[in-house]
Amino acid sequence: MTEPQIERPTLPDQLADAWRGLTEAVTNGRHEWHLPVIASIGVDGGPEARTVVLRSVDPETRTLTFHTDRRSPKVREIEASGRLAWVFYERSSKTQVRVSGATTVHAADEVADAGWARTTLSSRRCYLAPHAPSGTLDEWHPNLPDGLHASRPDATASEAGRENFALVRTRVDRLERLELHHDGHLRARWRWDEADHVEARWLAP
Ligand SMILES: Cc1cc2nc3c(=O)[nH]c(=O)nc-3n(C[C@H](O)[C@H](O)[C@H](O)COP(=O)(O)O)c2cc1C
Repeated sequence: MTEPQIERPTLPDQLADAWRGLTEAVTNGRHEWHLPVIASIGVDGGPEARTVVLRSVDPETRTLTFHTDRRSPKVREIEASGRLAWVFYERSSKTQVRVSGATTVHAADEVADAGWARTTLSSRRCYLAPHAPSGTLDEWHPNLPDGLHASRPDATASEAGRENFALVRTRVDRLERLELHHDGHLRARWRWDEADHVEARWLAP
């Protein structure tokens, strides 16, 4: 019996597929990679992880971004360590992508201004939160401004949220793709050095 003739996967195809999926997930809210988990190092040295919305992907510069409230603890964690890890999983294709890299928080520069300009009025409501995110409360509070619990602010009112807005950007220096198959998983890793030279490797799944 001869083995069935399967098409041999290539590393360039695997990498292109990862970037294609990540790029699609920015605008396709139904794509499971739209909601990655990001992991940071807590200020106490322990791991911290949480879900965010993937806001932009640029394969050319190898950058990913998400938006956050600059008052949130993760901002201090990222500023302290300068790095972030992201993990994405899509059930239908059984594909996991893990990326990590140097990460910067943009709150008062042109990068943040451009991110803020792309936000919708309904998402701007989050940045009008009266309490700093992750602070303890004596009793439940939705942390939305009075009068806006079920509605969006108008454009003028939404500008008050700008000072709480931050854009977080990771420049990917490591990307790993794992695709599960009954007849043999595919696992590969790419690492870029400071001169942008890439090392591409298959890994034992
Ligand atoms: C579906 C989903 C999407 C979320 N998107 C974001 C996001 O884009 N940015 C963000 O800061 N928090 C987002 N959150 C909330 C975070 O997961 C987290 O609870 C919050 O940011 C506080 O994190 P921290 O205490 O580690 O700073 C999201 C939560 C869920 C469930």
